[in-house]
Amino acid sequence: MVVVGSGGREHALAHVLGRDAEVVVTPGNPGIPGSVSTPATELDADLFVVGPEAPLVAGLADDLRAQGKLVFGPGADGARLEGSKAWMKALLVDAGVPTAAHGTFTDVDAALAFLDTMALPYVVKTDGLAAGKGVVVTDSIDEARHTVRSYLAGDAFGDAGRTCVIEEGMTGPELSILAVCDGTRAVALAPAQDFKRVGDDDSGPNTGGMGAYSPVPIAPPELVAEVMDRFVAPTIAALRARGIEYRGVLYAGLMLTPDGPRMLEYNVRFGDPESQVVLPRLTSSLVDLLAQAAAGAIVDEPTFSEDALVTVVCATEGYPLSTRVGDVIEGIDRARRLPGVEEVFCAGTDADANGSLVTAGGRVLAVTGRGPSIAEARRAAYDAARCISWPGMHLRSDIARSAAELGSPDEGASR
Ligand code: AMP
Ligand code: GLY
Repeated sequence: MVVVGSGGREHALAHVLGRDAEVVVTPGNPGIPGSVSTPATELDADLFVVGPEAPLVAGLADDLRAQGKLVFGPGADGARLEGSKAWMKALLVDAGVPTAAHGTFTDVDAALAFLDTMALPYVVKTDGLAAGKGVVVTDSIDEARHTVRSYLAGDAFGDAGRTCVIEEGMTGPELSILAVCDGTRAVALAPAQDFKRVGDDDSGPNTGGMGAYSPVPIAPPELVAEVMDRFVAPTIAALRARGIEYRGVLYAGLMLTPDGPRMLEYNVRFGDPESQVVLPRLTSSLVDLLAQAAAGAIVDEPTFSEDALVTVVCATEGYPLSTRVGDVIEGIDRARRLPGVEEVFCAGTDADANGSLVTAGGRVLAVTGRGPSIAEARRAAYDAARCISWPGMHLRSDIARSAAELGSPDEGASR
């Protein structure tokens, strides 16, 4: 089995797929066992799982399928859901999926005029891929105007920003539901919540995600069922109506507003760091699930442990604005030996000339704890993270804090 990608999500995929199969990760990184430098198109395997959005948008799944390989991951046609927010929003409107009102712009004057008609907060997004950093949510009209100008001029994110989407601002907790699709139908994985801002109490800029936990006390099974019926199923139907057979993950990024759930965005891949807390909770085979979806017919419903998982991302100083790399990472082995540690997933790591693991990207590690409650999983994750260090290492101290206080979904529902 081949996993394509090099981050914490791919380490988590390899960790869980590795329960039932031999896994090779390309290109992986020196912190992920089984990493090889051979490109996916030159490897042979029963199943290929493409992790990140960029190769999916670039058509890697199509290339592998053209070689006769069994592939989990949408083709370039379906990956447009993440590759173009404007295309995604148009499809959501067609499919009748509840989402924020929006406008799509390439012209500065038209965009600024539309912005003036919006209420607070202002939400401005790049149309194209921006590694989770192309969204600005602000109460300042000056910052919103500046963002529109710099996106459309290509200054901030190059061509990804030359088309921008301006959206109605919504409020409420967020929820990630990862749905595994076989082209016709989808099954939900256990919900997760991630923490997008870099600082405690949701301060500072958006990142790829600073931590996550699962299960989510505010997401009982009825809510997941509603999202699958009213959001995911119509999306798959709308894709099919466009001739797109979507075999991969539909990651529904939702906001639970006072008026009910709304779709913020779709991603076409497993969430990172959501994968690190959702996938290890599977008690059924991930290999079987992804192979069945890739072959066009999910037969077995996934099942999940009642354990909770919490992951805390250790990032480099300055992330997401800048990244300092090459610092030796201390303490991973000690962290791994602590009770309740699922794994220290390696996202942005490299090896130096002495073979020591060093920092190589903004998000370096996802330190993941498991326990019978969110509070215990959280304690395990933070105890492990405290063993780890390098100069300038940054982590949030409030991952899953309020969920740990709230308890399990069942306890939440009975209150
Ligand atoms: P996205 O990449 O579209 O999920 O946006 C990244 C983050 O920006 C989301 O997780 C939200 O926290 C925030 N965001 C995006 N769209 C909106 C919106 N319409 N209203 C409020 N916050 C938003
Ligand atoms: N954790 C957010 C994402 O994977 O896009």
